[in-house]
Amino acid sequence: MKQKIFLTRTLHDFALKELKKKFEVEIHTGKIPIAQNILKSKIKNLDGLICFPYDKINKEVLQSAKKLKVISTFSVGYDHIDLDFAKENKIRVGYTPEVLTDATADMAFGLLLDSLRRISEGDRIIRNGKWKQIYGAYDYVGFDLQGKTLGIMGLGRIGKTLAKRAKAFDMKIIYHNRNKISREEERKLGVKYVALDKLITQSDIISIHVPHTKETNQIFDMKIFKKMKKTAFLINTSRGKVVNEKDLITALKQKRIAGAGIDVFETEPINKNHPFTKLENLVMAPHIGSSTKETRIQMAELTVKNLINGINGKKPIYSVGY
Ligand code: DGY
Repeated sequence: MKQKIFLTRTLHDFALKELKKKFEVEIHTGKIPIAQNILKSKIKNLDGLICFPYDKINKEVLQSAKKLKVISTFSVGYDHIDLDFAKENKIRVGYTPEVLTDATADMAFGLLLDSLRRISEGDRIIRNGKWKQIYGAYDYVGFDLQGKTLGIMGLGRIGKTLAKRAKAFDMKIIYHNRNKISREEERKLGVKYVALDKLITQSDIISIHVPHTKETNQIFDMKIFKKMKKTAFLINTSRGKVVNEKDLITALKQKRIAGAGIDVFETEPINKNHPFTKLENLVMAPHIGSSTKETRIQMAELTVKNLINGINGKKPIYSVGY
């Protein structure tokens, strides 16, 4: 009898084909994210689960599993999964780093460029028939990138790749990380380690690249916004919960910081009446950091491989926890 797997959303055809050759496959086709009660009842008889960042694979859900061997998430982030519980119960967890590094760094850089040069705002000006109102020489100015200091919070794969982009634009790059990287690598990337307080006070742009954990939950709050330069921008492509959104809204409204570019939100999706949608000094993207055709194909390949390994009692290619 084939082992049973469940997908909380559909995947590319090639991936489904591969999975169907080996397993009995069920795909959730209803509302996204899947309701917790449906997930709880489905997980009972599963050998493998393919999930996505909006799903909450918490203890309550996992407690219902009787023979689950692996959770394979279509994401680099895994803060939606109770890793401790999975580990205690010998459930492997696979995720998809590396393949989305370039796409996500591109997105961070895109938000940075858009925020400083006011591209999305300009698009709205044209669409709203207001172009004639910005004819003056000083009416609609942004900021140069060259010479500005980019502060990278979290210099992992994506942070390092962002540094390469910024270097090509002649920006100064400082970073803060749990661990300093080697002198040699710092030199190659053209980055300088600074204490967190320095990163906050010296950066013209701060880009966040830390995972969401208990320690990083809402670390970007009013205390930090008050210390940032009034002309500074905040970019976030990591997780919305790393930022205190209420404080960010106040900081942007009161122009305590100049602007922000975000791809991630505390709760997703937001609706069109969310206070964020009223702010002109905010550029938003609907959590599409990894969303390129090429990257998503590689993520699907990896998600399938991770699942197959886990079901066969092996470590996923990229594995967290057990
Ligand atoms: C991830 O992979 O965690 C990104 O946020 C895209 O979902």
